[in-house]
Amino acid sequence: MKIITTIGEMKAAVRVVKDREGTIGFVPTMGCLHEGHLSIVRAARQKTRVTIASIFVNPTQFGPHEDFKAYPRDLDRDAAMLEREGVDFLFHPSPGEMYFEGHRTYVEVHDLQDKLCGRSRPGHFRGVCTVVLKLFEIVRPDVAFFGQKDAQQAIILQRMVRDLDLDVRLEILPIIRESDGLAMSSRNTYLSAVERRAGLVLSRSLREAEVKIGKGERRAETVLAAMREMVGRESLARIDYIEAVDTDRLEPVLEIADGTLMAMAVYIGKIRLIDNLIVRLEK
Ligand code: PAJ
Repeated sequence: MKIITTIGEMKAAVRVVKDREGTIGFVPTMGCLHEGHLSIVRAARQKTRVTIASIFVNPTQFGPHEDFKAYPRDLDRDAAMLEREGVDFLFHPSPGEMYFEGHRTYVEVHDLQDKLCGRSRPGHFRGVCTVVLKLFEIVRPDVAFFGQKDAQQAIILQRMVRDLDLDVRLEILPIIRESDGLAMSSRNTYLSAVERRAGLVLSRSLREAEVKIGKGERRAETVLAAMREMVGRESLARIDYIEAVDTDRLEPVLEIADGTLMAMAVYIGKIRLIDNLIVRLEK
């Protein structure tokens, strides 16, 4: 695996690869890798000829009071993991390389960026879209792979690709969980043992929702009330949002249907965790 830190070098490598080898699969990350990231890398390896991963803790997607500085970074460990998975190139630019002094251009996906996580993280998705578009320009992937864990991010990026006629296909891979149900996340490393246990309430409440829906309940408010009550009983948890929305406009739905997104963000102590479920109704 070749590690590249400059945009110029990455573009040059892509030019060579495009001519010689064919399809490029791209897995953008912020590092502190776990099985969730690796499952995406494996999908990319299977489906495309050349796999490029990036590790870049993107400053523009963090709010002024968020954890940009504290975000866990361990390049040596991450690079070894990617190497073991057979990744061909790792792009690891510095913030100064990606955001040249005087950077002024941002990408916004209106409406969708203000819903769900956007309400408590203003500017977050603008930062995500901007960096992902820049990375797409540098890496020029045929297919880019993302995780369902960040459901709103995936929906917004799909919209950006459609709206800007980008020449890339997105693939969204399922959420990878710890054996007890906790959705894997780089931010789980912040949790104390007690908080980690409390954090299980997210996946438990989604399972509860699934059971209720499986028994025939279709009223969103009834299912959401049960989820909110369960989370409310966990003393370390504070709900940011728990919603049932459609995956096109992220608007709340009254009736749960096939494809409805049940999405939640909950603070466990100071740590904000997210999780979600796409409802599948048996035909
Ligand atoms: P990061 O949080 O590092 O996640 C990188 C990719 O891994 C994202 O597509 C995310 O959805 C996916 N992922 C994270 N945890 C997962 C899990 N438990 N199961 C499945 N997939 C999981 O998302 C970002 O970075 C950034 O916003 C980025 C897109 C790189 C732009 O900066």
